[in-house]
Amino acid sequence: MTGEDTEGVVRRDRFSGGPARSFLSSLSADRRIFAADVAVDRAHVVMLAECGIIGSEVAGEILEALDGIEDASHGALPEGEDVHEAIETAVIERVGEEGGRMHTARSRNDEVATCIRYRLREDVLEALEATLDLREALRTVAREHVGTTMPGYTHLQPAQPITVAHWALSYEQAVSRDTERLLDAYGRVNRSPLGAAAFAGTTFDVDRERVADLLGFDSVLENSMDAASSRDFLLETTAALSALATTLSGLAEDLVVFASRGFVEVDDDYASTSSIMPQKKNPDSLELVRAVAGDAAGGVSGLATTLKGLPRAYNIDLQRATPHAWETVDAVGEATIVAAGAVATADWNEDVLAREAGAGFSTATGVADLLAAEGLPFRTAHEMVAVAAENGADYAALDAASREVLGESLESYVEPAAVEAALDPAESVASRDSLGGPAPQAVEASLEASAEGLAADRERVAERREAIEAARVALGEEVAGYV
Ligand code: ARG
Repeated sequence: MTGEDTEGVVRRDRFSGGPARSFLSSLSADRRIFAADVAVDRAHVVMLAECGIIGSEVAGEILEALDGIEDASHGALPEGEDVHEAIETAVIERVGEEGGRMHTARSRNDEVATCIRYRLREDVLEALEATLDLREALRTVAREHVGTTMPGYTHLQPAQPITVAHWALSYEQAVSRDTERLLDAYGRVNRSPLGAAAFAGTTFDVDRERVADLLGFDSVLENSMDAASSRDFLLETTAALSALATTLSGLAEDLVVFASRGFVEVDDDYASTSSIMPQKKNPDSLELVRAVAGDAAGGVSGLATTLKGLPRAYNIDLQRATPHAWETVDAVGEATIVAAGAVATADWNEDVLAREAGAGFSTATGVADLLAAEGLPFRTAHEMVAVAAENGADYAALDAASREVLGESLESYVEPAAVEAALDPAESVASRDSLGGPAPQAVEASLEASAEGLAADRERVAERREAIEAARVALGEEVAGYV
């Protein structure tokens, strides 16, 4: 055994680590992939035995040792540069020299890449489930508030009246794309690099498909150099999480603003008070949700800059890339759960919302639309309503503007009742029934479509969970055949 990638006990004897020992080590960070590593070891040993690369008896001894190591947990591992080395050492301690056969036909390079993918897919499924729950919470708000008129804003200025349902569904739809992006990333996470060895394949007649199957991976990453060294799956998963966090930050910001205006009251569970100002109730949880977009963008940036320009094949820079993904998935997953809870428990103040829905002449666009529908060029109608906006924004002001701009009374070309209706925020909302608009019937249609979309995504996530659970059970049965 010679060369720079000689590993395990022998390697540690040759390189003590010296002052850089703890700098080199990923052992404590590897706690996160301890269970994954045990599973990967099991599948590898089963495959080695099936392919006749190691004997069944020694396979059984190694598998039994792995059971004991798993029970003792990560904290009981012997010293090692990382979890892979420490588990191998623990196997050898239990089995004797023969335990060293476990590392036949692989390297820590393909091993760690497999462990990260194995663990990350669980984390992505959890984040996915959180997006589904958030969507459900948003749909519930929408169902309850199809008729709750509220002000809609552009530039944070009152713009046009909408409903709480329309607002909630706007985020449901955005989060549904975040679900889609995470599902898409999942498909590329769930591929097996195992069997690539250090990067250049192996002389042993391994069955890469079999080991992928035992671990519940959908497919094998074929090129051994790519399999061992690529981390684009970390980058794209983190990027998808960053997009989700950006959606969440907008949702949180809206709620913070709405709470400051008395439109909504955040539940006590998601608020805190001030240590000096006794009257304060601050929507702190939502401000923290808003801030997580920064953590996620930091994760993407940390990964991209760590991965950029790395030569083929393995470099230990990759060891410092992984934690960016763990930190991002933890922060964004938690923020999604908190956002869902805050949305589900918030109390909408319908009276304040109704009163404010027409503020700032928010029905102006609807009035201009009405005049245009009655035959005026839209630009002329826009100008006329702008004049009325300066002078009271009511029927009288519109009539005066009509006489000024057109030289004609308003009632000479439009029904006064139609104008009054257009000036009413609720009627204004009801008239905007184009596809995806805020009118109750349009929102009801969107609600139905979103129910179908959500159910289909729940099914997709459940299928993936079942597939990895089935693989876990099947691997357990295979292992039981040896011990
Ligand atoms: N602990 C390393 C990582 O996280 C894997 C070990 C590979 N080390 C090596 N020197 N080839 O990437």
